[in-house]
Amino acid sequence: MSSPKSPFLSVCEGSQPSQTPVWFMRQAGRSLPEYRALRGSGSILDAIATPEIAAEVTLQPVRRYGVDAAILFSDIVVPVHAIGFGIDVIPGRGPVAETPFTSRADLTRLRPLAPEEDIPHVIETVRRVRDELDENATTLIGFAGAPFTVASYLVEGGPSRTFTKVKALMHGDPDLWHELCDVLADLSIAFISAQVNAGAQALQLFDSWAGALSPPEYERFALPSTTRVMSELGALGVPRILFGVGTGELLSLMATSGADVVGVDWRVPLDVATTRIGNFPVQGNLDPALCFAPTDVLEEATRDVLRRGGHAPGHIFNLGHGVLPETDPDSLKRVVDLVHEEGQILAKAARS
Ligand code: CP3
Repeated sequence: MSSPKSPFLSVCEGSQPSQTPVWFMRQAGRSLPEYRALRGSGSILDAIATPEIAAEVTLQPVRRYGVDAAILFSDIVVPVHAIGFGIDVIPGRGPVAETPFTSRADLTRLRPLAPEEDIPHVIETVRRVRDELDENATTLIGFAGAPFTVASYLVEGGPSRTFTKVKALMHGDPDLWHELCDVLADLSIAFISAQVNAGAQALQLFDSWAGALSPPEYERFALPSTTRVMSELGALGVPRILFGVGTGELLSLMATSGADVVGVDWRVPLDVATTRIGNFPVQGNLDPALCFAPTDVLEEATRDVLRRGGHAPGHIFNLGHGVLPETDPDSLKRVVDLVHEEGQILAKAARS
């Protein structure tokens, strides 16, 4: 007899889940006191490189919230860091490159990833987490950054609001831009493949900053490499999620990438997103800021997301972006319980 599927995997495969699955981007992180206690003050990249810590941090939100998925405690810059590009993650700021990518010569600083040698700790962390999880209940999600979003850190040298250097490069030297994206696509493919081969059961490609691009820019400068990542990872046979922020105008293009599930930020209601995406399960999209609202407001907003998500062929509940650092864990716990208690009822009522 085949074992029952987790609610998360059921939705990805288009079948009826026993409950609406829910997890949160950035669930393993600073909003949890048990994370802060374990994490200490070193670089997050050191914490990620220590499997005991990384596995424990991955599991903390599963224990506290009862979420249906764990996301590996890692970061989108882990592969470029591991091959020695020279990047660190500064608390409160994000990834910062010592010497940004400015010219063709910088391509030589981006060699291929050899997972067994470069990131053995990631492989070990995935194995440890899978050993602890009940596979019929909780799904382990592996992830990487999409080429555009990782490139934005390498080229800008750090977080950016305007993406001026990236846009100057992509429009000014499209050939070099496409070569850079190709190399970054290979890194993401190798990074995610290593996670799935070690036991990750689904994958998410974070194109967090894709919303900085117009649809023609996205189609020309970001979608081709993202599509190649999706297509090559298709061979792994696990569900593929594509997510970005501020992507309302890009959703229909993102749906052509080969992803199985499209993540939606909080700006587009899920029923509207579904008319743009088509026949895909969706993931999202409670505004993370609403976790700071009074409980009755938070509950009604959660129900609204569930009702609208009911219009899609499947719905994985999430926030519209990551958990904000000051979020009260009790608010997230309330959301998880509500999604589990009422998700299927509200989605069904919305469809009929
Ligand atoms: O979701 C999870 O809980 C798993 C862990 C995770 C981290 N980074 C750990 C982390 C995930 C999925 C990421 C992905 C990531 N990293 C993205 C895509 C997701 C998104 O939010 O759009 C991006 C853009 C990055 C780059 C990055 N790393 C940023 C912008 C920051 C925040 C900087 C800050 O301190 O405000 C980081 C650091 C980081 N990565 C933290 C965590 C828990 C927080 C800092 C810390 O604890 O040191």
